Amino acid sequence: MKLFEPATLGTCQLKNRLIRSATFEGMADSQGRPLPEYRYLYKELASGGVGGIITGFAYVSPEGKAMQPGQVGIDREEMVEYFLPVTDEVHLYGCKIFMQLAHTGRQTRKKETGQDVWGATTKKSLYFGGSPRELSTEQVYSLVKRFAEAAGYAKAAGFDGVQVHAAHGYLIHQFLLPSVNNRNDEFGIDAQSGIGTNFLGLVIEEIRKACGLDFALLVKVSGSDDYFARFSAEQFASLIRFLEARKIDGLEISYGTMDNALNIFRGDIPIKVVLKHNPVFKTDTGMIGLLHKARIYLLMRAKLKPFTPTYNLEYAKLAKALTDISIISVGGFRKGAEMRGCLENGFVDFISLCRPFICEPDLVEKLEQDENYSAKCVNCNICAIMCDSDQPTQCYKR
Ligand SMILES: Cc1cc2nc3c(=O)[nH]c(=O)nc-3n(C[C@H](O)[C@H](O)[C@H](O)COP(=O)(O)O)c2cc1C
Repeated sequence: MKLFEPATLGTCQLKNRLIRSATFEGMADSQGRPLPEYRYLYKELASGGVGGIITGFAYVSPEGKAMQPGQVGIDREEMVEYFLPVTDEVHLYGCKIFMQLAHTGRQTRKKETGQDVWGATTKKSLYFGGSPRELSTEQVYSLVKRFAEAAGYAKAAGFDGVQVHAAHGYLIHQFLLPSVNNRNDEFGIDAQSGIGTNFLGLVIEEIRKACGLDFALLVKVSGSDDYFARFSAEQFASLIRFLEARKIDGLEISYGTMDNALNIFRGDIPIKVVLKHNPVFKTDTGMIGLLHKARIYLLMRAKLKPFTPTYNLEYAKLAKALTDISIISVGGFRKGAEMRGCLENGFVDFISLCRPFICEPDLVEKLEQDENYSAKCVNCNICAIMCDSDQPTQCYKR
């Protein structure tokens, strides 16, 4: 496999094997409608030559909104007309675009969203705190419908497919994890696989019913996490086998949950920016609050993993050995040589990148012109922390 050759993802033809991984934009109004900057961002990325774009996560239901301001929504039909000009523009450059669908579950805050926080269970997130309410069985079925409806709106808005966000500790991931899911109904841990797959399985089934096979269905998962009872290699293999049987079109392999968010990204902790903008760390809650924050900080710091090139590749390779689904590896790809090496060795089918595109939207042109090109991103992670501010996502080192 070569970096610059046409490749298929489901029924989609991509002009190369490079994908922009989902990246929160912070470019929507308070109703989740994309602002003009959103359209400009995707035009710029598409014109830079990337084969496919996965949008930042869009909420499928208002209580599943992120705590970060400016998230787009795809929770109602009205949204179709706002996204149509975006997909039209992207298609002008021969680029494909997939919308990432998400529900935050417990990983949000009432203070920021104005809504009750609902999770797979009442177990708290260390980082977000709060006391999530457990979704009833009926509510879970109705959320399955919301995902399918959202996919239908995305299709009507001209997207080439959707990516179901089942990674990073968001709602679907909360169901998958035995360390979080202690439910007793049909959405609990499956005795056979040892993980909680039923919610994800129904979401996939209903999206297929709503949108058909000619609409790419991608899923993003985490290979493991940093909880005390971490997601094991056997549990990850069970998840891959489960997805293999569902014949999805593409599987992106990431890592972790928001409880140790920096292990999703790896790199620096821009502590001054955290203290200034992060709602968990900046709030003035007196001595007890300060002690609680210090505890969270120390726990996170102790578990921090260093940035290494292509840091999630081992999980992607494991998945590739177990399934024929196209595998997308994300995390730490910076050099053209690393990307080509992975593809030429058949380790994965696609490479996706996030931070390097924030820094250089025209990265693909540069990689095409110079096979030894190395992305300028220095993993300072200011872009990630600034998602909590009211600024649109951007590179602060450019
Ligand atoms: C600013 C920022 C926003 C992100 N937003 C999302 C998102 O909306 N959905 C998602 O699945 N991952 C999101 N991620 C994670 C990336 O998709 C990716 O998995 C991670 O950054 C590692 O890739 P990289 O080394 O190429 O940056 C975000 C990362 C950053 C830095």
